[in-house]
Amino acid sequence: MNYRIAVIPGDGIGVDVINEAVKALDKIGELYGHTFQYEYRLVGGCCVDAYGVPIQDETIEVCRNSDAILFGAAGGPKWDSLPFELRPERGLGRLRKEFNLFANLRPSKIYEDLKEKSPLKNRVIEKGVDIMLIRDLTGGIYFSEKGNRIGKHGEEAYDVECYSKFEVERVARKAFEIAMGRKKLVTSVDKSNALFSGKLWRDTVAEVAKDYPEVRLENMLVDKAAMEIACNPSRFDVILTTSIFGDILSDEAGVTTGSVGMLPSAAINEKGFGLYEPIHGTAPDIAGMGIANPLASFAAVEMLLRIGLGLDEEAAAIDRAINKVLHDGYRTGDIFMEGNTKVTTAEMGARTVERITR
Ligand code: NAD
Ligand code: IPM
Ligand code: MN
Repeated sequence: MNYRIAVIPGDGIGVDVINEAVKALDKIGELYGHTFQYEYRLVGGCCVDAYGVPIQDETIEVCRNSDAILFGAAGGPKWDSLPFELRPERGLGRLRKEFNLFANLRPSKIYEDLKEKSPLKNRVIEKGVDIMLIRDLTGGIYFSEKGNRIGKHGEEAYDVECYSKFEVERVARKAFEIAMGRKKLVTSVDKSNALFSGKLWRDTVAEVAKDYPEVRLENMLVDKAAMEIACNPSRFDVILTTSIFGDILSDEAGVTTGSVGMLPSAAINEKGFGLYEPIHGTAPDIAGMGIANPLASFAAVEMLLRIGLGLDEEAAAIDRAINKVLHDGYRTGDIFMEGNTKVTTAEMGARTVERITR
């Protein structure tokens, strides 16, 4: 088969890690007889530098004509003082909004060979960690009314957290469907004790739950959820939450597995079209050093193949290669432990690609 992939490396380490991830797709193509046709586009700070905007309209069209989007990361200190609409991250925001990518799937699973690397004690993670965090991605505080104004004490800025019942229902349904194929537990995380939108969230999720009698619904306040993820991550199956809480909790859940450099995510719409990316950012502290971990992007390619293109066997081949390269002791700095072989981004990419087999 022939697939068109919009490739958007973005800024900082996004460029290095996507460069490696594309080689994984090439290898899959060779092994399974597919052709991946890449359409490279600039989004983020690089696009601001080249065209004065964080994303071009043509890029939206290129993505519309593709089968999936592979994204790196956008942003960096160089562009931090730009006006809001010109910020690099707005390029990613526009892609999410334009294609209605409301369901953000952020899995955190512990790789056997990385258990030692978890910041949590062995006893906390001995039962393993396998969380699928589902984050609403197109509603809430990111996309509701925001602005600056003059208030009683002078200058103010505000961002409204607003959810429609429709938006909650849509993402909740996705979470329950996914839970059906897993351990059938949905933990819905909100702040219903203090927020109107939190109350609507909780009530709406309860209504959706009625359509999935086999799935157990548990409600949890976000502050407690933050604590439970650190103390008892094995208790979770699917976590369903808002955009802002999901952003924060997914980094927390993720890092229990060793490094943010290991974690992929998928952002998908009703039609199953999606954008696949690592959850990490542009890592300005290590950008340009060639030491970023590309495995989150390999895992994003795994999700792209499985969810975006329905190529389960090909996806499984990527997953095997990631496990194998870790088992064989290759490590970038973020996951390095004594006795391992320390490698650069490019070496880690190469060692992983050569382990992709049918
Ligand atoms: P970050 O995820 O870029 O970095 C956090 C820490 O994790 C850093 O110490 C970094 O070195 C480390 N890290 C991240 N990815 C790594 C990898 N693959 N290998 C090894 N170490 C890795 O978060 P930040 O520093 O808060 O954000 C930096 C910039 O990235 C900001 O401009 C932010 O807006 C942007 N950002 C973009 C996205 C995205 O495009 N999806 C996501 C998060 C942050
Ligand atoms: C993420 C990022 C983005 C978000 C930023 C870059 C706007 O942190 O994808 O996790 O908050 O959604
Ligand atoms: Mn984030």
